[in-house]
Amino acid sequence: MSTPTAYRPHPLWGWLGPFRQDPTTTLAYIAARQGEITTFRLASRELILVTSPEGVQHVLKDRAGNYIKGRTMDVVRPLMGENVATADGPTWQRWRRLLHPAFRRARLMASVETMVHVVHEFLPALDRQASRGQPVNLMPVMLDLSFAIITRLLLGPLPEIHRQAFTHAFHEAMGLLNRIAWSPYPRLTRLAVEVWPHFRRVRHTLYALTDELIAASGRASASDNLVAYLRSLDNGQITPLEIRRQLLVLLLAGHETTAFTLSWLWAMLARAPVVARRVREEVIAVLGDRPLTAADVDALPYTRAVINEILRLYPAVWVIARDSVAEDRIGHLTVLPGRRIIVSPFVTHRSAARWAHPEAFWPERFLDFQASHPFHFYPFGGGPRKCLGYVLAPLEMLAVVTTLIRRYEMEAVPGVLPQPRPILTLRPHPGVWVRLRPV
Ligand code: HEM
Repeated sequence: MSTPTAYRPHPLWGWLGPFRQDPTTTLAYIAARQGEITTFRLASRELILVTSPEGVQHVLKDRAGNYIKGRTMDVVRPLMGENVATADGPTWQRWRRLLHPAFRRARLMASVETMVHVVHEFLPALDRQASRGQPVNLMPVMLDLSFAIITRLLLGPLPEIHRQAFTHAFHEAMGLLNRIAWSPYPRLTRLAVEVWPHFRRVRHTLYALTDELIAASGRASASDNLVAYLRSLDNGQITPLEIRRQLLVLLLAGHETTAFTLSWLWAMLARAPVVARRVREEVIAVLGDRPLTAADVDALPYTRAVINEILRLYPAVWVIARDSVAEDRIGHLTVLPGRRIIVSPFVTHRSAARWAHPEAFWPERFLDFQASHPFHFYPFGGGPRKCLGYVLAPLEMLAVVTTLIRRYEMEAVPGVLPQPRPILTLRPHPGVWVRLRPV
């Protein structure tokens, strides 16, 4: 991260200019300059930035009832409606309770083989790329792969024609959300989106396809996929509309996040051959040439350390927003009702006060990691709204990493590291270009 010495708040627009240009660096700069609990202005709106572990714990856990999603999720509501990630209060509680069993470790462990199976479906295309020796951008590959894994877990196997149509519709909708995210005029943008014919068309196609897939998936047994499981709950009282809303948000929350984390991982391994070799040696020592199984998941400490180091440096959810309900204090700061609070794992994870060599890619730090505070490292958030996929995502990443690292060596082209482009999630720009070579 470069030090933006030229960054200054504008008398009228505040930090809007630097923030739009480079949001992560701007937030890190504000925290370093003003402190870990502070305020900053984007145009007419003053926001509260919290990055100290103590402050983050206060907002996300200890006083979670006072810091709600509120209007922070307005940008995804026109597409996803009320669901487990956007709702507050009893609606959120109900969905969190219903969905939680589906994301328990024991249930997910039974899906490891399915995940590995999906990764293997991608190998013929990657083998072809490797044999040509041409540079390949792994970011779209990781997006496709993580979408294929998550749809398989949520909906079961899809006929190829449905999979392609659904992938296309979902990506188009995500593209629109990414375009309107971080509008300085969220209310106006939300109204404009509702009447925007292109958005309405994309939404209509996505809903029609989703409903068709839900109808087909729900006929399977409850253990086969999430939709069938949801159908079996509450004596079958859950409506298709409710299922659609949960399904879409699980796809949203579980797709780009995992795909970009994996993309960053390959970007870094392609530049750190010693680390890549150590991961490969560990995987071969534990698995030989057989696929990953649930029994191996806890036997790969170095691979896990690499995943954690990527989650530290490039937390896909780089900011977590909340709205305050009642007056409160966060550290020295008085918080009035209706204020927007921004918590940033990206900034905490790179704080020089909290981490040795914070900018360095150094997976070994996680081998005997003793967190000085529960919110020292929190890529999955924390408190009652901690990520529902915090067990699933690392399993998915292990399935991908253990398969690909034994098959290919990766060489970065060109040498420069992609830059973090934070929109809804933290993507590597302009992608992750590597040359693949069979091992
Ligand atoms: C590397 C991958 C992932 C990262 C870094 C990540 C990160 C996060 C974070 C930080 C939150 C908390 C947001 C907040 O407090 O406002 C969150 C929430 C959530 N995540 Fe993830 N996530 C990942 C993958 C997944 C996956 C695979 C799924 C499931 C398919 C998932 C489902 C959810 C849901 C449903 C929520 C909302 C929970 C609630 O509000 O109760 N995530 N995620």
